[in-house]
Amino acid sequence: MQFQLTEEQLMIQKAAREFAQNECKPGVIERDEQQIFPKSQVKMMGELGFLGMMVDPKYGGGGMDAISYVLAMEEISKIDASCSVVMSVNNSLVCWGLEHYGTEEQKQKYLVPLAKGEVIGAFCLSEPEAGSDATSQRTTAIDKGDYYLVNGTKNWITNGSSASIYLVMVQTNVELGHKGINCLIIEKGMPGFVVGPKENKMGIRGSDTHSLMFTDVKVPKANRIGEEGFGFKFAMKTLGGGRIGIASQALGIASGAYELALAYSKERKAFGKLISQHQAIQFKLADMATRIEAARLLIYRAAWLKDQGLPCEKEGAQAKVFASETAMWVTTEAVQIHGGYGYVKEYHVERLMRDAKITQIYEGTSEVQRIVVSRALLAG
Ligand code: CAA
Repeated sequence: MQFQLTEEQLMIQKAAREFAQNECKPGVIERDEQQIFPKSQVKMMGELGFLGMMVDPKYGGGGMDAISYVLAMEEISKIDASCSVVMSVNNSLVCWGLEHYGTEEQKQKYLVPLAKGEVIGAFCLSEPEAGSDATSQRTTAIDKGDYYLVNGTKNWITNGSSASIYLVMVQTNVELGHKGINCLIIEKGMPGFVVGPKENKMGIRGSDTHSLMFTDVKVPKANRIGEEGFGFKFAMKTLGGGRIGIASQALGIASGAYELALAYSKERKAFGKLISQHQAIQFKLADMATRIEAARLLIYRAAWLKDQGLPCEKEGAQAKVFASETAMWVTTEAVQIHGGYGYVKEYHVERLMRDAKITQIYEGTSEVQRIVVSRALLAG
C-alpha cells in the first residue's frame, strides 16, 4: 500500500493551490453576493489544463490520473466551490462521458474543445419531476429518421447558460422505461433550445444554475451517445465516477473551513487566553481534522480504483456521502469557532457552510448514495 503522492501529483496540487489563492480568492465574496459567474477564472482553468485533466492528450486533455484530479478539486474548492463545480461537471461528467462512450466523430467535434477548455459543457439529467428518481424522464425525443425531435424541460443545470455543449437525457420510448432513455448532444443555438432564468441559490452562487427548455429541437441521430436505449446506463456510469469529484469538492470545502478555524483559534483571545488553548476548541479541531482525513482516504481509494479501471461506484458513493456530511459538519463547527465573526461574510466560513450543503444534494443526494452503497452490499 502506497500512501505517498508522486512528484507529478504534488506539482499539480501546488499549481491548483496557487491558482486558487492568486486567482480565485480575490473577489470571491463579491461573486457570491452578486451571483457573478467566475468567467475569467474558468477561462484560466481551461488554459491551465484543469478542465480536461483526465482526457487523453490526443483529444486535447492533460492525460492525468484521477488522484491528480481530486487533488486539484480539493485545492480549488477550499477557496471557491463555484469555480470547482464548473471544473467537476466538465471533467467528470461531460469529458469523461464523451471520451468513454462517444464516437470518434463526436470526440473530435465536441470532446477536443471541451478538454482544451475552449468551451464548457453541461450534464442534463434532472427534471422538475425527475431528481433522485432519474428513470422518470419526461423530456421526449421522437425518432424522425435522421434526427430526433426533442421537447421538454431540464432543471438545476450547472453551467446552464455558460455551457456550449449539453449532454441531455431524453425518453425516446416511454413503454421501455429506462431502456428507452438516450443521451443526446445538444448544442447551444440549436433552434428551439432556450436557457431559462438563473436560480437564486443558497450556496455556490457564482455558478450558473438554470432550467433549460426544448421545443421541437431537431437533434441529428449522429449526436446520440451509444446504442439506442443506452442513455440511462450512460448517466449512471458517468455519475458513478463523477461522485468522486463532488466528494473532493466537499473535502475542499471542509478543509478550507478547518484551516480558517485553526488559524482563527490561534489569534482570538477569550477568558484571558487564546481560544486554541481551551479544550472545548481543541476537541473540535481534533474531530474536524480526523473526519477530514477519513474523507480524504475514502476519496483517494475511490480515485485509485478508478485509475486502475476497477469498479468504483460503491466506493465513490461512500466517499461522497461521508465527505459531504463531513463538509456540512465541519463548516458548521468552523462558524461556531469563529463565534459572531463566523456569521458575517468577510470571514468566509459562512459561505463555505452554505456551499457545503449542495454537496449533499447534487450528483445524487446522500439518500441516493446510501441506496447505491446498500445495493452493492446486499448484492455481494
Ligand atoms: N452502471 C450501469 N448500469 C447501471 C448502473 C451503473 N452504475 N446503475 C444502475 N444501472 C442500471 C441497472 O442495472 C438497471 O438496468 P437493468 O434494468 O438492465 O438491470 C437500470 O440501470 C435501472 O437501475 P435501477 O433499477 O437501479 O434504477 P432506480 O430507478 O432504482 O434508480 C438510483 C437508482 C441509484 C436511485 C438512480 O436513479 C440515481 O442515481 N438517481 C440519482 C440521479 C442523480 O445523481 N442526479 C444528479 C443529476 S446530475 C448533477 O447533479 C450534475 C450537476 O449539475 C452538478
